[in-house]
Amino acid sequence: MRHLIAGNWKMHGTLAGVAAYAAAIKAAPDHADMLICPPFPLIEPFARALAGSGVAVGAQDCHGAAQGAHTGDVHASLLREAGAAYVILGHSERREAHGETNAHVQAKVQAAVAAGLTPIVCVGESQAQRDAGEAAHVVKSQLIHSLPADFTGVVAYEPIWAIGTGLTPTEDDVAAMHGAIRAALIAHLGEAGAMVKILYGGSVKPSNAASLLAVPEVAGALVGGASLKPEDLLAIAAAAPRG
Ligand code: PGA
Repeated sequence: MRHLIAGNWKMHGTLAGVAAYAAAIKAAPDHADMLICPPFPLIEPFARALAGSGVAVGAQDCHGAAQGAHTGDVHASLLREAGAAYVILGHSERREAHGETNAHVQAKVQAAVAAGLTPIVCVGESQAQRDAGEAAHVVKSQLIHSLPADFTGVVAYEPIWAIGTGLTPTEDDVAAMHGAIRAALIAHLGEAGAMVKILYGGSVKPSNAASLLAVPEVAGALVGGASLKPEDLLAIAAAAPRG
């Protein structure tokens, strides 16, 4: 499985910064797939700047309906039209700050797939849930309730306590959780569950990328802070195992 290295810009970046970033990221290594998910207004400029480069563009959210009276929201087919190929859904920052439930996430997944986007569905436990020994149970429950039974797309395991903190789980913990996610995907989706890429996210940077990306069942990374510098995202992609 080719590794996918996805940059999540969150609420960062400017129109003025797109050209230089795109020019730098075009030097992507050819043994891994790369993706940039900027704020909505930068999707179209990025898609134009990266056309033909092999680096894909994605969004950070979409609505669960095809269109309608939803002030401030964006529908998935408009994102596709703007040049997005992927959409991050159910990120913990949206689950927490926007009250997104698993049911909301599942509706968004269906809307995204119907529009031709590949969803990247985020799951992950809080520090308190991990301390209570509930991490695997929480993640499994998020998966079962966020993914429709005919799900196609990508899953990202992002422990909330590792996001933006500089903390990461041990390689053994990542291996155990990714193994549990794989088993849950196969139980929920059947054979198709074996094909879903499972990314790791949370404080991935050039210095820890090689060890995290070498863990069994880790098929890439969802990178926040370090994705803002193209040289760091490229270094993370270069650290992805080949083949
Ligand atoms: P981080 O964010 O790399 O800054 O920890 C990851 C994410 O939230 O996707």
